Amino acid sequence: MTLFSVYPVIKGLHLGFVAITVTLFLSRGLWTLVQGTPPAGRWARVLPHANDTLLLASGLGLAYLSGYWSQPWLMAKLGGIVLYIGLGLLALRPGSPRAQRAGAFAAALVVLAYVIAVALAKQVLPGT
Ligand code: HEM
Repeated sequence: MTLFSVYPVIKGLHLGFVAITVTLFLSRGLWTLVQGTPPAGRWARVLPHANDTLLLASGLGLAYLSGYWSQPWLMAKLGGIVLYIGLGLLALRPGSPRAQRAGAFAAALVVLAYVIAVALAKQVLPGT
């Protein structure tokens, strides 16, 4: 298998993991806002971590194979992801005030949209 045949496969998987991460985060965030505590089911405890590990691994594979490593947009994307993870932890933290969770959830969604826009445009400031 050559680099050219494996790259589109990894990219397809990366996009699949992105779709799953967005769906899971939306469901867990909305659940936490409505119920007051994060969902405790197995799907909510195991699936997001397994998927995010695969999302990170496929992203690292793409960055390595494509040579995008040193590009500013990828650094901006990684910075956005770190911020998104921090806000996501605040949004899903049990016991913290509802207003704080709601604010963190909304901010996390904005940052996630920025991460996706940066990935699509491959520019630090998409649309400029
Ligand atoms: C929340 C996490 C992530 C999201 C939402 C995300 C989203 C996306 C999206 C939507 C694309 C497709 C761009 C296109 O079709 O042109 C993409 C591509 C890419 N992602 Fe991610 N990604 C994430 C994590 C990562 C990580 C952790 C890395 C690397 C360390 C990474 C590296 C890449 C690279 C190099 C591409 C370019 C592939 C190409 O266009 O050839 N991603 N990402």
